[in-house]
Amino acid sequence: MAFPVQRMRRLRANATLRSMVEGTHLSVADLICPLFVRPGDEIAEPIRSLPDQYQFSIDKLVAKCVELEKLGVPAVLLFGIPPHKDARGTEAYSEQGIVQRAVRSIKQACTRLLVITDVCLCEYTDHGHCGLVVERGGRRVVDNDATLELLVRQAVSHALAGADVVAPSDMMDGRVKAIRTGFDSRGLHDMPILSYAAKFASSYYGPFREAAGSAPQFGDRRSYQMDFHNADEALREVALDIEEGADIVMVKPAVNYLDIVYRVKSRFGVPTAAYHVSGEYAMMKAAAANGWLDLKACSMETAIAIKRAGADMILTYFAEDLARWLAES
Ligand code: PBG
Ligand code: ZN
Repeated sequence: MAFPVQRMRRLRANATLRSMVEGTHLSVADLICPLFVRPGDEIAEPIRSLPDQYQFSIDKLVAKCVELEKLGVPAVLLFGIPPHKDARGTEAYSEQGIVQRAVRSIKQACTRLLVITDVCLCEYTDHGHCGLVVERGGRRVVDNDATLELLVRQAVSHALAGADVVAPSDMMDGRVKAIRTGFDSRGLHDMPILSYAAKFASSYYGPFREAAGSAPQFGDRRSYQMDFHNADEALREVALDIEEGADIVMVKPAVNYLDIVYRVKSRFGVPTAAYHVSGEYAMMKAAAANGWLDLKACSMETAIAIKRAGADMILTYFAEDLARWLAES
């Protein structure tokens, strides 16, 4: 069956035919748009490290959500920037917290838009770590089990505010089980959990930490986020989260971790998300601003590559742009 009987170019010459044999389809329905919410009124503060992304006050956030809903983007992921931070991240689980108030406002304005909330303490703690910091043997460490209780309070308060899905991103062991148990004990049996299951300790989160003011004030996150040398360990992380009650599992970042996306989807066959993170977005925007990359073509290619690897949905700062480009074509 080799050449000349088989000619691979036969299906490539005609554009219509070419599109009929495409193996991967990108749809606006695959996209989740991350958004940052901050206190104040009528504020859309540009984020220096993330061109064309903003910290929105709630009014502006709601307007953005209405726009995204009109564009057909099915979901947003909310990150909160609280008015003050403290050692225990109190604002994270306050009923009047910035995310809790934002969720209630979005829910009044949007009927279809799915509101996913990021559950983690790092945006709310003064030390910038994702959990409680304690002193142990003269060293400051993140206390896994003491953190769980606070994450449960945060997740429950998001659910009670009207969040549709919670997304724990802290990487503490056992947090999905703790949150699932916390939901069940309050009758919230139907709350879906999208877990950041295989989240690597990546340098590509840099721009996000500037956006959220969440950079660790000492040390780094390698005692809880995954070592990027490891792949089998990612499968163990995902298996545990599914066992603990996660409904959707996420791999993060996306592009450097497409092998992980592929293996997770193949092994478990559960709904799988991939997060095209801040650094991945920022470097494409920077190259495009220099005229070195075609932003539309490259972001489409990247999103399709993430789907081709096996992701069912993509968290991306390009969500709005992609939605517009998909609507044009
Ligand atoms: C917080 C969190 C981070 C991201 C999502 N949730 C940053 C981190 O772990 O430091 C990264 C998102 C991005 O880079 O776009 N736990
Ligand atoms: Zn965190």
